[in-house]
Amino acid sequence: MATKKIIAVVGATGAQGGGLVRAIVADKRGAFVARAVVRDVNSEKAKALAKLGAEVVAADIEDPRSLERAFEGAYGTYCVTFYWAHFSPEKEVAHARNLAQAAKHAGLKHVVWSTLEDTRKWVPLSDDRMPTLMGKYKVPHFDAKGEADHLFTDLGVPTTFLLTSFYWDNFIHFGMGPKKTPDGKLAITMPMGDKKLPGIAAEDIGRCALGIFKAGSEYIGKTVAIAGECLTGLQIAAALGKALGRPVTYNAVTPEAYRSFGFPGAEDLGNMFQFKRDFENYFAGVRKPDVARSLNPALQTFEQWLAKNKDRIPLE
Ligand SMILES: NC(=O)c1ccc[n+]([C@@H]2O[C@H](COP(=O)([O-])OP(=O)(O)OC[C@H]3O[C@@H](n4cnc5c(N)ncnc54)[C@H](OP(=O)(O)O)[C@@H]3O)[C@@H](O)[C@H]2O)c1
Repeated sequence: MATKKIIAVVGATGAQGGGLVRAIVADKRGAFVARAVVRDVNSEKAKALAKLGAEVVAADIEDPRSLERAFEGAYGTYCVTFYWAHFSPEKEVAHARNLAQAAKHAGLKHVVWSTLEDTRKWVPLSDDRMPTLMGKYKVPHFDAKGEADHLFTDLGVPTTFLLTSFYWDNFIHFGMGPKKTPDGKLAITMPMGDKKLPGIAAEDIGRCALGIFKAGSEYIGKTVAIAGECLTGLQIAAALGKALGRPVTYNAVTPEAYRSFGFPGAEDLGNMFQFKRDFENYFAGVRKPDVARSLNPALQTFEQWLAKNKDRIPLE
């Protein structure tokens, strides 16, 4: 049997990386094996990945030497950064630099970089339709990722730029699920107006990434944008209501109102939704479910995702 190629998966205990590790180990006849890169090899999540059959190694995205060791001997790597662990765009860029340099050092043949748009290319800082945040960003957790793209290309690292979408899992984990309104009914709140929000099951991102690795050199140097479905707030609320067996309404607030909600990251997310709303033609236009399905034939629609996950959505 030919030796299998190692994919070192950063963030392997998280949503994106975890999905990729599970996709690789499930693909028993495939050409790849998974090396899960985690901070603590003894955590429950890390042990669960080892039990599935993944190699588990320790590295911290803050520590370049540890990344070099984690990438050594690998064919490729899945690179993701963790904005919500620190809320610092500068750290996110520094972490992306560490990943790109370690990939270069290890001579990797293929890097999939989980990125997002630098929204300042559409909304320059001088455009006051949305506030500038942290001095030089419009959507900090997007802008830093897009700003970091060139770090991979500048080093000549063979990279695929993977533009991901809003995880439907945010309705479970990120506080975005239906909330009770004063009249006792359920509502989801998003400043998307009547525009479409590209969404995806987080688990499907890793499966699409495996499709990219499997395609060999086809996507190297290219940007691939994925979504499971692009749905309006009304469509999302209707699907939630159908799955939960209770009516869910769509509370289409303004971006200004959303930014003022006061939770950590509210301004960033308010600007993010406004960007997706104001540039729907571009943003939902490039994220093509057909492309995602060609990479991952098991790609879920929102309805399919809800059928599996509705009971995990916390309701007050
Ligand atoms: N939520 C969404 O809708 C959405 C959509 C598109 C993109 N994103 C982006 O996805 C990224 C997060 O990815 P995710 O959702 O897959 O992560 P996640 O599920 O939130 O998991 C966090 C991961 O971060 C790892 N981690 C944290 N600090 C680390 C460090 N210093 N070194 C190494 N690993 C570290 C943790 O690993 P250990 O603790 O095991 O080491 C854990 O696996 C964010 O940048 C976010 O902007 C999110």
